[in-house]
Amino acid sequence: MSAAGLTRPTSDFRSDTLTRPTAAMREAMLAAEVGDDVLDGDPTVGRLEACFAQWLGKQGALFVPSGTMANQVALGVWTRPGDEIVVQRWAHVTTFEAGAAGYLHGLQSITVGDLLGSMPADEVAAAIRPRYEHCPRTSLVCLEQTHNMAGGRVAPYAELEEVSAIARAAEAKVHLDGARLANAVVASGVEARRWAALADSVSVCLSKGLGAPVGSLVAGDAEFCAGARLVRKRLGGWMRQAGILAAAGLYAFEHHMQRLEQDHALARDLATRLAGIDGIGCDPGSVDTNIVMARIEGAGEGTTVAELSAALEARGVRALPMGAGLLRFTTHLDVGPADVERAEAELRALLER
Ligand SMILES: Cc1ncc(COP(=O)(O)O)c(C=O)c1O
Repeated sequence: MSAAGLTRPTSDFRSDTLTRPTAAMREAMLAAEVGDDVLDGDPTVGRLEACFAQWLGKQGALFVPSGTMANQVALGVWTRPGDEIVVQRWAHVTTFEAGAAGYLHGLQSITVGDLLGSMPADEVAAAIRPRYEHCPRTSLVCLEQTHNMAGGRVAPYAELEEVSAIARAAEAKVHLDGARLANAVVASGVEARRWAALADSVSVCLSKGLGAPVGSLVAGDAEFCAGARLVRKRLGGWMRQAGILAAAGLYAFEHHMQRLEQDHALARDLATRLAGIDGIGCDPGSVDTNIVMARIEGAGEGTTVAELSAALEARGVRALPMGAGLLRFTTHLDVGPADVERAEAELRALLER
């Protein structure tokens, strides 16, 4: 039974975006004071934006419909067509935003690092172009914390600090894709505002581990926010009585932040179990937060990751094939210890028969 009181026939580990609002969150949404956020401002949206701006130590924040839009708003503010941005090789901005950096803003990207989410300082330094009229201008360096494709990795503070310093020395801005920054804060004990101080703009998602149904914020100083309002408008991201959604975000901020530790513990437990199954490569020591990447090594003759995940789904357990032989499991509000036991048992049944 999920928190919303609806039975789940499957144990669904595909994404932490799957969570449905709890009964208490729905009550908060129902009670939300709302207004037209485009005309006069919506009071609940205003409270949400102030809450996240304070948490991140920034002058302001803007509520937007999605993490993708939050990132693209930042790209739109900091760059002009023909610029180049430096991005981690498997970052969401370059891998999963459908080429929006080029399509929307006329940018080209130069990527650094590996599948483990690294952002080597020497590679970043080498990627930044000299100020020379034949070269594109490097206007932005993008960070991602936690790193999705790297299995929710929390980059060490010193690693991001060094990259941020290199970018700023080259007069490039820094954007932090913090879709899951709350997970990084809980896992690392490093405050959100310290991570955010490494960047000129930060995006955070409410609809992932925090368990709200919709929404993200993008934060920065007052000048950034003015630019961000314009880009959000151009992208069609203005919302009217959005307080009903912002109320879910405020509820999530107050009630679902600390419980992320439970998701992290469950992910470590799952990884330990998966590591013990023949044909799965999984390092529990690499699980920092709520994402477990299982490398399917010996799924049987002719069995691909997609085939394995389909067979698993037929047994009531869902995980996300990510390409490169990886199957992603994510822990969240709507899965618990019984789902983890089920995942282990069904994978054993499939791989060890
Ligand atoms: C690191 C990261 N950034 C941005 C996003 C985009 O969020 P949305 O799906 O709300 O557009 C995601 C989504 O999974 C993500 O993992």
